[in-house]
Amino acid sequence: YRNLRVALLGGGNVGAQVARLLLEQSEEFANRVGAGLELVGILVRDVNAERTVDLPHELFTTDAESLILGADVVIELLGGIEPARSYILMAMNSGADVVTANKALLATHGPELFAVADQVGAQLNYEAAVAGAIPILRPLRDSLGGDQINRILGIVNGTTNFILDRMDTAGDTLEEALATATDLGYAEADPTADIGGYDAAQKAAILASLAFHTHVPLASVYREGITEVTPAQIESARKAGYVVKLLAICERITDAATGQAGVSARVYPAMVPRDHPLAAVHGANNAVFVEAESAGSLMFYGAGAGGVETASAVLGDLVSLARRHIAGGPGVAASIHADLPVFDIGSITTRY
Ligand code: NDP
Ligand code: HSE
Repeated sequence: YRNLRVALLGGGNVGAQVARLLLEQSEEFANRVGAGLELVGILVRDVNAERTVDLPHELFTTDAESLILGADVVIELLGGIEPARSYILMAMNSGADVVTANKALLATHGPELFAVADQVGAQLNYEAAVAGAIPILRPLRDSLGGDQINRILGIVNGTTNFILDRMDTAGDTLEEALATATDLGYAEADPTADIGGYDAAQKAAILASLAFHTHVPLASVYREGITEVTPAQIESARKAGYVVKLLAICERITDAATGQAGVSARVYPAMVPRDHPLAAVHGANNAVFVEAESAGSLMFYGAGAGGVETASAVLGDLVSLARRHIAGGPGVAASIHADLPVFDIGSITTRY
């Protein structure tokens, strides 16, 4: 099989980590996929900007069209609506598959992008768009595809969880904690998206649409951010045995007046009892509870933001679509390829 040509749009917090891992682990990826994943270029605004990750300078380009049209797979990590939307459409229309982490785009233009993907037979994967490194979208769509999901309750924005946690445990102001979250690569390019609850609302729209098999428009998601949360409120919540968390709640509900069944999605800062598992979600971690008819309650937990953590989800999407891209390739067997010794260390393992 020939190498798959991978174009990366964006070399920021997430993009730079994706590029680094693709280059460092190219042999391992080739084994897993059954073909090489060749990084052919990285689209940025400024090819000479100083970067925190050391990557070959010749990979950087500002020529979007040449990069996209020469690729088998396009990974979009620019953020925002345009030009991300046009570039993804260009990629799919030219026969490429796409991976994106762009929840702002999916929550507003998802139906258009999914329709084009179906029309042209392209794969469009977006696991990293919700809850960073946590695998939540594929489980909702595939593993729970035979169940009925009744409710999702989660912390889905790492930046605001980090800020509220620092205000609660370290006495930081919102501004101080946001500056740290930005330095750590958690915040959006415009952090209003985080602290205003817009990012969490976009994720709630994506989660609810997948969980309830219906299009939940972003405009229908009730949204409140954390900008009005004061240190005094956090302090009095603590004294009363609560912690303030920005929650996303998506559920099936019945309209009390008409008896009509429907769904609701909303995002707001909530008082969570300190002994609730969500109260123990610290830093930029996320947690998503899923209540399903047959499966019961499931919890997904882990890093909700961060360059390298999110790169894990992006690369998972890439490996998954690359395997399918290679028709007649090694398929399922490709996941079991390594020839590593298995050590017998006896009962010591039971100490876990
Ligand atoms: P950054 O702002 O760090 O990086 C954006 C990159 O895109 C930069 O390299 C920038 O170029 C490039 N870029 C932006 N606009 C253009 C344009 N018009 N033309 C060419 N290049 C452009 O973003 P992140 O890496 O943090 O996020 C990327 C995506 O991943 C976003 O959709 C975000 O919501 C999502 N995401 C982010 C997470 C995180 O923890 N950071 C977690 C999950 C998802 P230059 O470097 O020259 O400025
Ligand atoms: N800014 C987002 C967050 C990135 O803090 O959760 C992950 O989607």
